[in-house]
Amino acid sequence: MTQSTNPRVRTGRDTADSSWRVAASQTVGYEVRFCRDVFAPDRTDLLEAGASPESRTSRRFVVVDERIDELFGTRIRQYFDHHGITHEIMTIRSGEAHKELDVVLRLLERLEKFGVDRRREPVIVVGGGVAMDVVGLAASLYRRGTPFVRVPTTLVGLVDAGVGVKTGVNFNGHKNQLGTYAAATLTLLDPSFLATLGRRHLSNGLAEILKVGLIKDAALFAHLERHGRLMLDEKFQGTSPDGRRAAATILDAAITGMLAELEPNLWERTLERSMDFGHSFSPTIEMLGLPSMLHGEAVCLDMALSTVLAWQRGLLAAEDCERVFSVMSALELPAWSPLHTPEALARAMRATVRRRDGRQRMPLPAGIGHCLFVDDVTEEELTAAAETQRAWALDASAKIR
Ligand SMILES: NC(=O)c1ccc[n+]([C@@H]2O[C@H](COP(=O)([O-])OP(=O)(O)OC[C@H]3O[C@@H](n4cnc5c(N)ncnc54)[C@H](O)[C@@H]3O)[C@@H](O)[C@H]2O)c1
Repeated sequence: MTQSTNPRVRTGRDTADSSWRVAASQTVGYEVRFCRDVFAPDRTDLLEAGASPESRTSRRFVVVDERIDELFGTRIRQYFDHHGITHEIMTIRSGEAHKELDVVLRLLERLEKFGVDRRREPVIVVGGGVAMDVVGLAASLYRRGTPFVRVPTTLVGLVDAGVGVKTGVNFNGHKNQLGTYAAATLTLLDPSFLATLGRRHLSNGLAEILKVGLIKDAALFAHLERHGRLMLDEKFQGTSPDGRRAAATILDAAITGMLAELEPNLWERTLERSMDFGHSFSPTIEMLGLPSMLHGEAVCLDMALSTVLAWQRGLLAAEDCERVFSVMSALELPAWSPLHTPEALARAMRATVRRRDGRQRMPLPAGIGHCLFVDDVTEEELTAAAETQRAWALDASAKIR
């Protein structure tokens, strides 16, 4: 309240004319921590999160991505058994098509049945962006907010979905249309999960890393140029000394860059967000491309188009554009899609303008590692850019081969 002792603002002589103004604020704090081999028996990071040592209980509700359960389910169960934790494991299917409200409702039913104690028993999620978004939403709804702890297992999860505060599910044909802002108490980053991740999903995560490099960190961009392909080959496991150094540098820079942009604008009140780079057209294109298109692929298509738009406006030199397209190709990401039709792009732009309160606020690269925002992209400009995008993408992939 503006005045803690007397919030009443008397506007007239009568009490019937009174009004009260309330203003409260809440500090949000959470931790993102590297934790190698999070399920090693001697590791206790996961169990120490979300409750004080005095109040901690020995029960946990754990949500695990179905594929992670197949790969690591035994190890996960052994870990909780080893620590004497009574646990219930619920597996959920991921992939964009399963990111729906009914999964959240099923999870809420299970939480209710388990009788989660929201002061002592943080819900644990082990999985990719879909599992974390679903669990984050359910946890933020359950009893108006139940703590949760995340263990991302995909590259998108490690550098993006696992570090911010957004939760959500798709609704009514729109991506992440239902959601909340809810911080996980702790995110434990264990890159060893990436050893089992498919190559295409690694590329998918590299798209979000490329976003950070292209728009705010030229050194990160250069690392991707030099070592991006090695990261794909070694799955960030540091098989070679070069690969080990590059994996650590790239993950560190991507997460630092992402958090530096998120922290001052956690609730996205400022609508000019550099991390929206690659997310102007992609929400519409990704939904059109389902079930086969991945999030990072749609983001990369958008970044490629935005790169051409920047070049058309004299913000980016032709040689820099060539570097961008060849990195995309080296990372095995699509830089053009037949879905980039004039109609789809115009529709995507309209949807983005609605989301961004009536203005385009479109981030474009202004030299590699920097960005600015524009508001006046025309449909003609988009059509021309998509044509150039196609030519450049074909050219870059021919050179890589
Ligand atoms: N909340 C946010 O701020 C935020 C940010 C970026 C992306 N996202 C969301 O994240 C989602 C994409 O995340 P994603 O790419 O992690 O997708 P995902 O969760 O669907 O996982 C991709 C696939 O990898 C499998 N998988 C997960 N870990 C594995 C492992 N270690 N080994 C082998 N297979 C594994 C999964 O079963 C799934 O089939 C999108 O829905 C996007 O909207 C959210």
